[in-house]
Amino acid sequence: MCGIIGFCGMEGSTERAAARVLEGLRRLEYRGYDSAGVAAVCDGALVVRKDVGHIDEVDALQHLGALVGDIAIGHTRWATHGGVTQANAHPHTDASGRVAVVHNGIIENYLPLRAELESQGVVFASETDTEVIPHLISAQLHNGHPALEDAVRAVCARLEGSYAFVAVSADEPDRMVGVRQGNPLVVGFGEDGAYLGSDVLAFASKARTMATPDNGEVVVLARSGVRFMDGEGREVEKERRPVDVGWTETDRNGYPHFMLKEILEQPEALLHTLEQDDALLMDVAVEILRARQVVFTACGTSRHAALIGRYLFSHVAKKFSDVVMASEFGYFSDSIDRHTVVIAVSQSGETADVLDGVRLAKEAGAHIVGIVNRPSCLLVDESDHVIRLNCGPEVGVAATKTFVSQLSVFYQLAFAMVNRLGEARCDLQEGAHRLDILLHSLNGSLQELAWELREKEHAYYIGRGINFATAMEGALKMKEISYVHAEGMPAGELKHGTLALIEEGMPVVAICPGDETHEATVGNAIEAKARGGRIIGVSDVESEVYDDWLRISRVPPLLYPVMLVPPLQLLAYHMAVERGCDPDRPRNLAKSVTVR
Ligand code: AGP
Ligand code: GLU
Repeated sequence: MCGIIGFCGMEGSTERAAARVLEGLRRLEYRGYDSAGVAAVCDGALVVRKDVGHIDEVDALQHLGALVGDIAIGHTRWATHGGVTQANAHPHTDASGRVAVVHNGIIENYLPLRAELESQGVVFASETDTEVIPHLISAQLHNGHPALEDAVRAVCARLEGSYAFVAVSADEPDRMVGVRQGNPLVVGFGEDGAYLGSDVLAFASKARTMATPDNGEVVVLARSGVRFMDGEGREVEKERRPVDVGWTETDRNGYPHFMLKEILEQPEALLHTLEQDDALLMDVAVEILRARQVVFTACGTSRHAALIGRYLFSHVAKKFSDVVMASEFGYFSDSIDRHTVVIAVSQSGETADVLDGVRLAKEAGAHIVGIVNRPSCLLVDESDHVIRLNCGPEVGVAATKTFVSQLSVFYQLAFAMVNRLGEARCDLQEGAHRLDILLHSLNGSLQELAWELREKEHAYYIGRGINFATAMEGALKMKEISYVHAEGMPAGELKHGTLALIEEGMPVVAICPGDETHEATVGNAIEAKARGGRIIGVSDVESEVYDDWLRISRVPPLLYPVMLVPPLQLLAYHMAVERGCDPDRPRNLAKSVTVR
């Protein structure tokens, strides 16, 4: 997590680097937002400003963008090591304050490195793992590697873990040095300077072309130009590719929150996901049909989408598959072989748990299908086939439109397996249209319901079959942005334990569309109601058991999740707003989870 950025103005550039860095940091804030900071190099001096809070709060206190100099680096943090304090915020410096570093990732061997440095008399200013890096660089600069780029390379040889970092030194005021090992770092080439960033959004609209250093490569952004070097210090050629301009639009367009905008954008997102290369879908469908076993791996919302994909593959193509939570995938790697297709589902394409599993599966010879939204991400490089969601940037930390887009991809793949892709596309087009009408008609009543429920601290979501995962997703949305404890489960499981928790007025969201599961789920809702539960029915079919009815449109049974989840997202959104929470920046979370 964490967002890092650097800007190095070209010779003759008059731009204040810190202002560019601040602008980029705002776009990287989805990666973490507990504290932020900027360091700028000017006239042989290094100035660092940092504090706790969101970027705008820190800027108001510290005037980050006002720092002068042609070279600046910045950071927006999601703490892994050390609390959320000003001292732990990045950039971190060496003892002399002449070397500064911003870092994304975890230095796994920081404790022995810290002990070694402390035994040499180094005094640490923070509790972070990161701080060993500037101290080690400083030691190298004074010890045989006087050039920053050589010092960085020598330090990397001592670091364990996965990381991307950028370093500057007051003694080399014309350059910055970046490196990555397992974590993302991209270089953007602008008209008046070059950028380093965790993501292309860092320099969106400012750079026309970009390049990605490989793991272990060092990149030097100097006022005179950009150079890439391998781990031995040999210069390497890098191919530049155009920055995807469609990806640079990250405006709220008048909505109070990105999350609301992204929820309402879902019909459009569904249509964009239809822009797929048929040959690619058919190739992937054939790989899946041929495989001895098919395993989805994903986390959070992407995993819930995969759970639905699994039902689709089974119902439509009679192809059994399994879903293994990415953080648990490694423990099943013994069973993965070259007859396995692994479908890795990740909006960001950089979730560390997903990437770890994919790398293990690749080593075992499995065929990897990556399903991603972000155009340039690490999962793309690891995959044999890549299917893109094409639904544009999702900024809200809670995944919304990417979830329905993932469902659309699975729907198309399932039908591609039985040569009925055209039919799937018609269903999805019709579904997008109905969803649009539904979202606009339900928004007001969801807002009222959220107001009534605003003081509840618990909620249960139940559903069956393909909509068991719908229940899980509804509950995840509720807990992550409104901080209401919510649990989703197969409706049939309720009586095996959770029913003990149902008491007077407890919200029970019953996902019971008019399909084969309707009666059984309503039956479970009746049991919950008998214990005092307040039943919120989400269905196209009316029932006396509902205390509240969120009426959805009728669609083909396998498309119900596409119609059911968006109202649940909206309910969670309005709950968050009613409870005074920021839905775009839920506490303790970040959008890209690049740590294990
Ligand atoms: C979704 O609302 C969550 N913030 C989270 O569960 C997310 O889906 C998960 O971290 C996976 O992310 P990915 O799709 O980028 O891999
Ligand atoms: N480990 C660093 C810290 O806690 C960076 C965290 C990250 O990249 O998420 O500050």
